[in-house]
Amino acid sequence: MQALDLLLNRSSQPRLQTPAPEGQSLENIKQAALRAPDHACLSPWKFIVCQNQGLTRLGKVFEQAAIIANKSEKEIERAPQLPFRAPMVMVAIAKYTENDKVPWVEQVASASCAVHAMQMAAVAQGFAGVWRTGSFAQDPTVKQAFDLSEQDEIVGFLYLGSSAVKRLLKPKKDSADFFENWG
Ligand SMILES: Cc1cc2nc3c(=O)[nH]c(=O)nc-3n(C[C@H](O)[C@H](O)[C@H](O)COP(=O)(O)O)c2cc1C
Repeated sequence: MQALDLLLNRSSQPRLQTPAPEGQSLENIKQAALRAPDHACLSPWKFIVCQNQGLTRLGKVFEQAAIIANKSEKEIERAPQLPFRAPMVMVAIAKYTENDKVPWVEQVASASCAVHAMQMAAVAQGFAGVWRTGSFAQDPTVKQAFDLSEQDEIVGFLYLGSSAVKRLLKPKKDSADFFENWG
């Protein structure tokens, strides 16, 4: 896929099935993440690749978080199933390091760029994905399970796999609605 075509036509796919990326395809996705813009070379990232038993483990973390947060019975029942919406879930974390020049928001922005890069690298290789967060991304029990400090941030759960259905591209937006010209 041509780079510009990818940029102009990227879309998410929530309906995912096997196969998940593996081998060189998966390594390309990881390397794309590590090319994210990175002010002062802090590399403020940590990624957890969940598949197979890892999805079960992630589901248990969600279930535990739902119980501790006093969520409804329905939500507690659903929590362990959430990661199984794809054959692979990449947990993307901004690992914050205090730095005079690089505030927290920039480190979170860098980790967010990494998520986008991974989705694009997946699509470029014929896979598909969707970036999800939901309340578990902010949940203290979930953060604790990943051994995160208070200022670390789960920027997303990137669900990856192969497209289960053909997805129609959303209509193109008018650039004039978002871009103002100065000069
Ligand atoms: C930070 C972030 C968090 C998101 N969280 C969710 C989510 O929890 N659930 C969801 O259905 N979509 C979520 N989305 C939106 C999808 O990733 C996707 O962008 C959206 O469905 C629109 O599809 P498109 O990417 O093809 O335009 C999130 C997007 C971002 C950037």
